[in-house]
Amino acid sequence: MPTVPTTCDLLIHSGDVIDGTGGVRVHLDVAVTGDRIVALGDHLDARIEATSKIDASGLIVAPGFIDTHTHDDRAVLSSPDMTPKISQGVTSVVTGNCGISLAPFAGREPPPPMNLLGDGRWYRFATMREYMAEIEASPPALNLAPLVGHTALRATVMDDVYRAATAAEIAGMETLLDEALEAGCIGLSTGLAYPPAFEAPTDEVVTLANRLVAYGGIYATHMRDEGTAILDSVSETLEIGQRAGVPVVISHHKCNGRASWGMSRKTLSAIAHARAKQSVNLDVYPYIAGSTVLLADWITGTDRVIVTWSAQHPELKGRDFESIRSDWGCSVEEAVERLSPAGGIYFKMNEEDLQRILRFQDAMIGSDGLPHDAFPHPRLWGTFPRVLGHYCRELGLFPLEEAVHRMTGVPARVFGLTDRGTVRVGAHADLVLFDAERVIDESDFSVPTRQATGIYQVIVNGKQIWRGGEWTGAKPGRILRSERAAH
Ligand code: ZN
Ligand code: CU
Repeated sequence: MPTVPTTCDLLIHSGDVIDGTGGVRVHLDVAVTGDRIVALGDHLDARIEATSKIDASGLIVAPGFIDTHTHDDRAVLSSPDMTPKISQGVTSVVTGNCGISLAPFAGREPPPPMNLLGDGRWYRFATMREYMAEIEASPPALNLAPLVGHTALRATVMDDVYRAATAAEIAGMETLLDEALEAGCIGLSTGLAYPPAFEAPTDEVVTLANRLVAYGGIYATHMRDEGTAILDSVSETLEIGQRAGVPVVISHHKCNGRASWGMSRKTLSAIAHARAKQSVNLDVYPYIAGSTVLLADWITGTDRVIVTWSAQHPELKGRDFESIRSDWGCSVEEAVERLSPAGGIYFKMNEEDLQRILRFQDAMIGSDGLPHDAFPHPRLWGTFPRVLGHYCRELGLFPLEEAVHRMTGVPARVFGLTDRGTVRVGAHADLVLFDAERVIDESDFSVPTRQATGIYQVIVNGKQIWRGGEWTGAKPGRILRSERAAH
């Protein structure tokens, strides 16, 4: 037993601790000094002199949530309060998903979907090191663990991204990727479903993913097909992991489009089977609609599409695409052309697949929220409270301890975030205090930016960042670098 100190900076007392390992809750006090947890125990308040105290009676004290799938690369710079995330209890975000990262790419207009992060004015980091330096000069409220995006690498070295890369271009991407990994990126992401990466053959990805081995990095992928060819995509992903010798994460796992509904039975059994010989994980968001750039091909066969932003018609945000198209009396293609660049919410999944994926062993939670959309998908503000309140408490998909485990201990292990994701002595003090009986999302597809209920306090690196329904003004966030980065 570590010796209990006689003083601490912050004492969180009288709460029920869910420690993130999956173990059952225990009534415990948590003592924090500096950025670490220094003691855990019953009635510590009688033994420790604390500079400040938080009464957590009736609340759960858990590790802060890790949002495993985000597009917060630019938000951490332009909105360092990160309110949509910290209001949900999120203390760390994995950035750079779906092949899209804010670095390295500079000096030009980014091809869609890279414009989800902003236009060319925001793309001004030729290296990952420059991006990280700017964040560290002015950190956000929460921590970030950056991935580097394959599409960003392609857009930097290729004059035309709508084809396979040449050997020389792949070598150029390897150099950029090495630089990013040396700077501390935790892995590589791809967005093979999107036009600027779709023509990349499997071999191109294997060659790049192989660079991750030396850095202990991870490969995360928005797979080439999430519709009827999804099983081929799962096979391709597993093949990349095996041939490159790296752990893989399947991003926002889903069955997109009616013709693919039910296929999660097969994808999940393929993944479960593969786990015997390789490291494979997935993340999922708790909604039956997705959101990304507006593309005519993806609208066909979708039950409903809501426009989330439009550069040419900003006033049409939040409107149904079909009603805009019929007002204009034009084709789908022409309406997309007139709105673009633009984004949309696509209703394409079914509830059965979603629940099956959520229940899958060690499925991680990733919001995939799009912070710069004018009328964003409600997942940006609601993902974590929705899993806790709706899927865990109301529908009973899993016990609360399991829900917390998928948001904390599992992702910390999968992404190699050392000393995060569990409440234990010596760990970083990233914590959330919430009411298990009341926590619920309030954002939906008509009012997408409403703050969730039931999240009372959020602490990052020992500092309170969320209290009384607002950001405290503190910005203690850090870049969570891979352990093998050359600092
Ligand atoms: Zn994606
Ligand atoms: Cu994404």
